[in-house]
Amino acid sequence: MAGGYESEHRRSLEDPEGFWREAASAIDWVTPPGERILDASRPPFYRWFPGARLNTCYNALDRHADGTRATQAALVYDSPVTGTKRTFTYGELRDEVARFAGVLAGLGVGVGDRVVIYMPMVPEAVVAMLACARLGAVHSVVFGGFAAHELAIRIDDARPEVVVSASCGLEGSRVVEYKPLLDEAIAETEHPPRHCVVLQRPEAKAVLEDGRDLDWHEAMASATPADCVTVDATDPLYILYTSGTTGKPKGVVRDHGGHAVALAWSMPNIYGVGPGEVFWAGSDVGWVVGHSYIVYAPLLAGATTVLYEGKPVGTPDPGAYWRVISEHGVRVLFTAPTGIRAIKKEDPEGEHLRRYDLSGLRTLFLAGERLDPSTYHWASDLLGVPVIDHWWQTETGWPIAANCIGIEPLPIKPGSPTKAVPGYDVRILDDAGAECPPGVDGAVTIRLPMPPGNFTTLYNDDDRFVESYMARYDGFYLTGDGGHLDEDGYLFIMGRVDDVINVAGHRLSTGEMEEVLATHADVAECAVIGVNDELKGQVPIGFVVLKAAVERAPQDIAAELVALVRHQIGAVASLKQVEIVPRLPKTRSGKILRATMREIADGKEAVAPSTIDDPAILDEIRATLGRTPRT
Ligand code: COA
Ligand code: AMP
Repeated sequence: MAGGYESEHRRSLEDPEGFWREAASAIDWVTPPGERILDASRPPFYRWFPGARLNTCYNALDRHADGTRATQAALVYDSPVTGTKRTFTYGELRDEVARFAGVLAGLGVGVGDRVVIYMPMVPEAVVAMLACARLGAVHSVVFGGFAAHELAIRIDDARPEVVVSASCGLEGSRVVEYKPLLDEAIAETEHPPRHCVVLQRPEAKAVLEDGRDLDWHEAMASATPADCVTVDATDPLYILYTSGTTGKPKGVVRDHGGHAVALAWSMPNIYGVGPGEVFWAGSDVGWVVGHSYIVYAPLLAGATTVLYEGKPVGTPDPGAYWRVISEHGVRVLFTAPTGIRAIKKEDPEGEHLRRYDLSGLRTLFLAGERLDPSTYHWASDLLGVPVIDHWWQTETGWPIAANCIGIEPLPIKPGSPTKAVPGYDVRILDDAGAECPPGVDGAVTIRLPMPPGNFTTLYNDDDRFVESYMARYDGFYLTGDGGHLDEDGYLFIMGRVDDVINVAGHRLSTGEMEEVLATHADVAECAVIGVNDELKGQVPIGFVVLKAAVERAPQDIAAELVALVRHQIGAVASLKQVEIVPRLPKTRSGKILRATMREIADGKEAVAPSTIDDPAILDEIRATLGRTPRT
């Protein structure tokens, strides 16, 4: 390692091209990066490694399988919900992927074609992703907890040739049938896929449509393995849709070259994980954490990744995570604070942990939402290993701020994800664009250009990319989070400043939930806010004003609205509470005072802004939520 944290960070900002040229040596290129490492000719559309060519799947699998790691475990599948455990060596995983790439190629999928993957946490989901990378096709994984309508929106935006799915997923003991959701989604789309490949699982049998749907196993049996296709470093590897402030999700686009370089760099430098070691990201392949740290980064680094189909609690008990760590020799675990809170709630004394040998565990990394100090202390006292909070987003694809233990572990400050990772120039800006002094909250931004691995645009929507992220402050990326730096340069993230909320580490849009509620025939207007929740961090609550002529029982309408959001967005939206209210608090110009409502719901002393139209409405909201009215 060249130096400590400060010198590495400085070097990355003073000489980004030199820094990332050096990091690029961890990747096997077909055409190595040339003189120019960064194409900055069209800001804010920066491109890393122009002219270089590679294949991401080759780097994740073939080079290990053909080298010294053919018999090393690449992926360990552990599924307490089906009672299955299976290990794939690098050789085996490569062969599966090559064969499925053959299936896709046989269906006409080639470079640049999109493939939507709507699957539970099964190895075939990883195989499908890597098979796309192998062909230069662009995958778009849709989280299994999203409903048919959400899937349809994504299919219509990505316009895939093929959708890869499964007959079902398992939520604890509940079987969630995916195929009816897929069929419903396809019926709703304007651009249906030509084919679907469906993995039949023993827990549910999907009905296949003749001519359109193929059975995974049958297709694999007759397929010819396909080889890696070389693509440009700047070509798209995947699209991952994430929640914005409206009902239209944003298709975050990631490239091949920058992504491979950044993720390969992150494994030893941020996570301190080397080849041959076992790394486990307890997330889902449908989220960015799953893309980066279940699939690509551990494999690019020659490590072993764990694919866990289960929950931290209930599958079967709050010792589930500790069992997986001890059984598979996990050195580093990465999950969301909500998972740890779920374990803490059911096993506050950590009795389940004592049943397992966790001596191999070196570090716990947490991200996806704010790590509250009490969860931090509970986990670090219990585990006796460093608990590292780190902060990032779907858009960045890898951590913006972290304690880079592979470079130099820094003292931990609970409540802070430590400092900007090398490559990131984090600035806190006020409304006028000036830098905030230490301790003062502002908009958390990143000075352009951002390092490799960050999103290059929004799919089919360069304008929205600029408007949403790059237009607010010239030369800076707007993260959407508020926060501050302290005197020592430690970053504190205080939460989103837009309509995005984080529920159990899942990113959701309150704006989108409002759009769904507004479609109900009885609803005149509505507001959805995210309120603090002990387990999930935040949960949404809806407030609805009914149309004047409506005479039906409010509780019936509220129940319909809860069901509507579950049907339209999915169970993952977790909207369980809808309050029917006579009026919504607004400014005189008609803007709904969501922030004030949030303060009331969180039990804070909410002060009505001077622009409020009628302060008495706040007391109505307090009464509805059972909060004590202000005297
Ligand atoms: N397919 C179908 N349904 C799904 C789903 C999937 N892939 N994932 C979640 N759901 C459903 C859940 O079953 C639940 O349904 P319910 O309302 O009928 O109970 C709903 O969506 C909400 O899910 P979630 O918010 O995850 O709540 P939960 O009670 O099922 O679990 C935790 C809570 C904390 C245990 C769980 O969120 C967890 O394991 N979190 C830690 C790891 C993590 O998720 N990280 C994410 C990003 S890093
Ligand atoms: P996602 O795109 O789903 O990864 O969600 C990104 C958002 O999650 C960020 O913008 C933050 O609001 C939140 N987030 C992620 N990690 C952290 C963290 N360590 N601390 C506080 N908030 C976080």
